[in-house]
Amino acid sequence: MVVTAAPLATRVGVDVLRSGGNAADAAVAVAFSLAVVYPTAGNLGGGGFIVTRMGRESAALDFREVAPGASTRDMYLDAKGNVTGKSLTGALAAGVPGSVAGLWALHEKFGTKPWGELLQPAIDLAEKGFTTDSAFIASESERARLQQFPASAALFVPGGSLVPLGAMWRNPDLAATLRRIAKHGRDGFYTGPTAALVAAEMKRSGGIISAADLKNYEPIWRAPVEFDYRGHHVISMPPASSGGLTIALITNILSGFDLHAMGWHSPEAIRVIAESERAAFARRNTLLGDPAFVKIPTEAFLSPDTAAALRAAIASTRVAAAEPRAPSRERHTTHFSVVDAHGNAIAMTTTLNNGYGSALTVAGAGFLLNDEMDDFTAKVGAINAMGLRQGSANAIQPGKRMLSSMTPTIVLDSAGAPMLVTGASGGARIITGVTQLLINVLDFSLPLGLAEGAPRFHAQDYPDSLLLEKGGYADDLVRALAGRRQHPTFSKSSYDNDDFSYVQSILRVGFRWQGVAEPRGHGLALGY
Ligand code: DON
Repeated sequence: MVVTAAPLATRVGVDVLRSGGNAADAAVAVAFSLAVVYPTAGNLGGGGFIVTRMGRESAALDFREVAPGASTRDMYLDAKGNVTGKSLTGALAAGVPGSVAGLWALHEKFGTKPWGELLQPAIDLAEKGFTTDSAFIASESERARLQQFPASAALFVPGGSLVPLGAMWRNPDLAATLRRIAKHGRDGFYTGPTAALVAAEMKRSGGIISAADLKNYEPIWRAPVEFDYRGHHVISMPPASSGGLTIALITNILSGFDLHAMGWHSPEAIRVIAESERAAFARRNTLLGDPAFVKIPTEAFLSPDTAAALRAAIASTRVAAAEPRAPSRERHTTHFSVVDAHGNAIAMTTTLNNGYGSALTVAGAGFLLNDEMDDFTAKVGAINAMGLRQGSANAIQPGKRMLSSMTPTIVLDSAGAPMLVTGASGGARIITGVTQLLINVLDFSLPLGLAEGAPRFHAQDYPDSLLLEKGGYADDLVRALAGRRQHPTFSKSSYDNDDFSYVQSILRVGFRWQGVAEPRGHGLALGY
């Protein structure tokens, strides 16, 4: 079973499984295909995280971008100390990409099919072209960013208009880059002609990623964050993503509440979930960062005592005034989930950060660079594009990974076999989207389609408000919530919005796998 945000990539993954590849093989093929058919988030020039359950072994792979060697703590501040937009658009926004090295490491450890064979579908898609679908189409608001850069404009805004639905689209430069990677492995990206094209782009566009930055990039295998929720064992992503620890803390707090007795989507249940999210995010934002640079208080995040103290505070919270929500931007990331015939599972989330990342395509190489530098704390207390207000633990330092919210997650049954594979896009809303999916499935046993489609809500430590998905809540419930601590604010619309997470999940039901692609998105779940 393969569930991705882009139908063409899902089909590639199923083909790999059908021809005998395992979950890791399929993940490699899917990820490279997403870089072609879902360029807003699929990538060669970004990074991400993978959680695996291969056989009896759980693992987590961190291929997050790192800050270039020449980066500095205040590089995004102007002379007056105000945050500039340089962490969002253009060459300076890019961290050193990790995706190709990450996929190479995944394949080295778990792959069974030849590397080159797994890249071939992506090469073919880029070279021969494909008919654009809804997953591919950019929005008008993204057009202006892409038009700033000639190579991006040529690819995505040819002749001044966005590529329309149903057009034939090719990217020969990307095909050539993929062929170099197919032939030379990670070296096909981090050294040689691809690296030279990146270096030339940096020079032309005022970036600071050096040849040494590329050559020295290393993904890291880490011990996953592991915790129990309602009798199920959960494996998730440790720092440099905040996802696993934050979800662990939220669910540890919730463990002491009987959500079932409160009722699904009752005001009381929503209140305690949202308050648990707020409490956990406050710690996430101030305490977490790259473990190579800051000491991570893992124990505190996982300890029942911390959860109990926070739970007690939630029980007594009072009504407080809401503050306005940070303006949202276009944002994209992508998650996919895979299980193979042996029951191996892979959850992978990857991103360029915002849609099309920095909007800068490396000329001659056909791929976009990320704007992941914006995930760092540009200035303590400032709000970034994901609406997060973070602390100095996440300050910029050369070689450091920026804190992420990506949360690839696998839930095991009592025999240690994967029963739920999930993860999401949506910036900070990844964490709450995955939390809600866990609650819907593990607390309330909702069928996966309902668990995915159920109206979402989101709270983080700042702003002090509860975001409800428009159209999903009855007026009296909204009134009940408004009288409490959180003041609800509404998203623009329930579908086709960028305000909530896109969750892509697989659930074992009896002896079968059930996959559900995010109903708000354009993806596809397919098994064989
Ligand atoms: O790593 C992170 O948390 C962000 N760069 C993710 C961005 C994102 O999910 C945008 N999404 N839709």
